[in-house]
Amino acid sequence: MADTLTDTADNAEQPIPEFPMPRAAGCPFAPPPGLEELRDEKPITKVRIWDGSTPWLITGHAQQRAILTDPRLSNDEKFGSFPHVSEYRADIAKVTPKLITNTDAPEHTRLRRMVNGPLLLKRVEALRPAIQKIVDDLIDDILAGPKPADLLTALALPVPSLVISELLGVRYEDHEFFQRNSNIALDRDALPEEARAASGALSGYLDELLTEKLAAPGEDAMSEMAARVTAGEMTRSEAVHMGVAMLIAGHETTATMISLGTLALLENPEQLAVLRDTEDPKVVAGAVEELLRYLSIVHSGLRRVAREDIEIGGQVIRAGEGVVVEISAANWDSAAFPEAERLDLTRNARLHNAFGFGPHQCLGQSLARVELQVVYSTLYRRIPTLRLATSFDRIEFEESGTTYGVRTLPVTW
Ligand code: HEM
Repeated sequence: MADTLTDTADNAEQPIPEFPMPRAAGCPFAPPPGLEELRDEKPITKVRIWDGSTPWLITGHAQQRAILTDPRLSNDEKFGSFPHVSEYRADIAKVTPKLITNTDAPEHTRLRRMVNGPLLLKRVEALRPAIQKIVDDLIDDILAGPKPADLLTALALPVPSLVISELLGVRYEDHEFFQRNSNIALDRDALPEEARAASGALSGYLDELLTEKLAAPGEDAMSEMAARVTAGEMTRSEAVHMGVAMLIAGHETTATMISLGTLALLENPEQLAVLRDTEDPKVVAGAVEELLRYLSIVHSGLRRVAREDIEIGGQVIRAGEGVVVEISAANWDSAAFPEAERLDLTRNARLHNAFGFGPHQCLGQSLARVELQVVYSTLYRRIPTLRLATSFDRIEFEESGTTYGVRTLPVTW
């Protein structure tokens, strides 16, 4: 059966498109047009990436959900032709220890269970008042400070950093150290040695924090991991790596959603009004889902490799072949979201793939949702005259990192 199916790579007449693809000038929120064409014509097809290899690219919404839940798909970066994002990432994968992001079941299930508790919806909901205070204090500072302000540095970056500090149990007096180093570790303009030094400082700090929590546990994620280390369920090194993973995975993503989301809302004032004029948490929650769908900020593709042959959508992905799942194409798939190109905060966008899908779907999604709900429901009500302090066409977009966002967001009011 498999032999009768098309293998695009073997078909010399079909040129293999390059990935990633450029966005269209003047359409900064839309997925690259080439991706949308592929999704509509060949939602499972081969593409060529930076090292000349040709992994499969999955762009359709339904196809992504099918492949991401297939147990034959692996996150093992050392297996077969794993499609690394860049040469740098390929190099570090050779020495990366086993992490939540690069393991498969049952190892992955075990690691995930170690930190599930503090990120469960019920526990995260209990943090809502603390998150509200963080957001209100930062907005107080913005209002008391000079105009214009850069929303990225004044609000978008500090919110996730302060929230994750709270969740992990970082001492209040260390928040600034934590925030400064995580900003450098994530800064695309930082020199590699600066970024490495900042990451090293964070790991060192979390290692010390773990020692403290082993001696005097509190009510936080690091203390829960300390208890698991004592019980022999995880190693010290796993606990420290997990803390770093939570920090890194949750920082830039949430910050980008706050800044790019605000830009999209300022460009769509009738949608911004939906958030500004409501007191209904369900409306706010729905708006957050739609912004996650519309912006699809994780834009470099989720990377996987096939452990065994997988037959899907009339194609066969052979064992050892790479798979790239590009989220924005699926989130703008009109088969799943009619008039997908329209930002409509009242639509039901809940089935978006912005947090991925399947066993590796975002572990921090409940936390991210609460953070975004608090920010979006507070910012435009507290600063109803918020507007760009520059023209839209002067905003610089950042395309090189894991997330697609803005370099700065100058605002005034
Ligand atoms: C709006 C903000 C966020 C977005 C859009 C986002 C998006 C994603 C996506 C797409 C994945 C799946 C990656 C894959 O399948 O290869 C993921 C995984 C992950 N995210 Fe998030 N994320 C966000 C916030 C957070 C936060 C706040 C945290 C932490 C507290 C977090 C922690 C993680 C972790 C640990 C994983 C790896 C899970 C695993 O491999 O099992 N994320 N995220």
